[in-house]
Amino acid sequence: MTIRKILKFPHQDLRVKASQVKEFNEELKVLAEDMLETMYDVKGIGLAATQIGIHKQIAVIDISPEKNEPLVIVNPKIEILDASIKEEYEEGCLSVPGFFEKISRPADIKLIYSDLDGVQKEIKPEGLLTKVIHHEMDHLNGKLFVDHISELKRRRIRNKIVKQK
Ligand code: NI
Repeated sequence: MTIRKILKFPHQDLRVKASQVKEFNEELKVLAEDMLETMYDVKGIGLAATQIGIHKQIAVIDISPEKNEPLVIVNPKIEILDASIKEEYEEGCLSVPGFFEKISRPADIKLIYSDLDGVQKEIKPEGLLTKVIHHEMDHLNGKLFVDHISELKRRRIRNKIVKQK
């Protein structure tokens, strides 16, 4: 397993839309293992392939306190069951280190995805998992949580990160 480099905002590769995974092979499994190791290494709860510069629709998530419940989602799709139900959560991101903003997201959703063997699954997430799923789906679509806040705030965060480099 290898720890991969996480791209930081405003890296342009974070804006690339990921393409569908068509082959569920050994290479995909290695990628998922590397992504989990990379996420655990920096104590994250989610990581999308886009963040390590790989433009495939795959993300890893683990919101368990013991960090022993990895969830790998391939070609994920969200179905919003009730658009009127939204929840706010203070989101952060491994690609936007040190910044947190309250983001409102649809809370009543269904997630349809494939596992690493290409078997289609469906879950009805709740609580924190719902927020992480939205956040990782954004990454796969070339979006970041800072796209949900004002232009002014986003520019401020961008300038601070660029200065830190
Ligand atoms: Ni993120």
